[in-house]
Amino acid sequence: MKKLIVSTLCAVLSFSASHTLAEGKPIDPLAGKALYETYCFMCHDRGLGNAPRPAEKADWNKLLPLGEDTLFKAVIDGPSHMYPKGISPVWSEWELRSMIRYMMSTVADAESQKQVNTASAADKEHHLQLLHGRKLYEQTCFKCHDYGDLGAPQLGSLETWAGRKDKGLDALARSVIDGKGHMYAHGGSNSLSINEFKSMITYMLSSLEEGWVSPQRNCK
Ligand code: HEC
Ligand code: HEC
Repeated sequence: MKKLIVSTLCAVLSFSASHTLAEGKPIDPLAGKALYETYCFMCHDRGLGNAPRPAEKADWNKLLPLGEDTLFKAVIDGPSHMYPKGISPVWSEWELRSMIRYMMSTVADAESQKQVNTASAADKEHHLQLLHGRKLYEQTCFKCHDYGDLGAPQLGSLETWAGRKDKGLDALARSVIDGKGHMYAHGGSNSLSINEFKSMITYMLSSLEEGWVSPQRNCK
């Protein structure tokens, strides 16, 4: 027990020490690599839940154009991360950016370097909205919509979305808020805003696009 307290204390102290030291220092991908290998590898090395894998170019095709700032925001908000900031709430901006820069550096050769930060502001915003929608979706909606239970239109299944997907976000959000068939009002998420419902539906609809991969791919 004593050992546990001491090691916890050391961990806390070393975090706060690196936090203070870190501010104002240039972003350091080498330090980021060391942190990544301690705190991020368990999901990212294996691509768990579609976490982008270092050195796997295909995983980063869409992410490089979004640039470090957007990815930083995405991690801060804890997109579908189990916890905000990718597991630990105590990262400084320097630490997180160093990890992200390291991750990006594993795929950024001269050719893909040209892609970095080329997406439009609207595309960056859309990306963050999708991640937010996915995070909220995974809190309640997945129960019926991952598997198509009770006749729910299923994630990734064009067939079950036929006659629905083109209704428009407003009408679809109305269905969820009012309830429809076996879906109770608000789909179980009473406290959310209309924009949050729209984000969830935007995420659900994005699963119908070509090339979408189910987040369950590595969770079997
Ligand atoms: C519990 C598993 C898990 C851990 C731990 C984890 N990640 Fe992730 N990460 C994911 C998943 C899943 C995604 C895919 C995007 C999403 O959240 O839906 C992701 C996406 C990302 C992205 C891309 C975000 C985007 O815009 O799509 C970055 C950057 C990232 N993680 C950084 C980190 C860093 C840095 C750490 C360590 C501090 C970390 N992650 C720890 C699971 C994890
Ligand atoms: C208890 C199971 C259940 C839960 C939880 C659930 N849904 Fe549904 N959902 C359904 C069923 C069943 C339908 C089909 C209703 C019908 O057309 O009869 C449906 C339909 C929909 C539709 C299509 C509506 C239309 O107009 O055709 C959307 C969009 C949707 N759900 C979004 C969500 C969102 C977002 C959440 C989470 C906040 C959610 N659902 C939670 C069961 C569920």
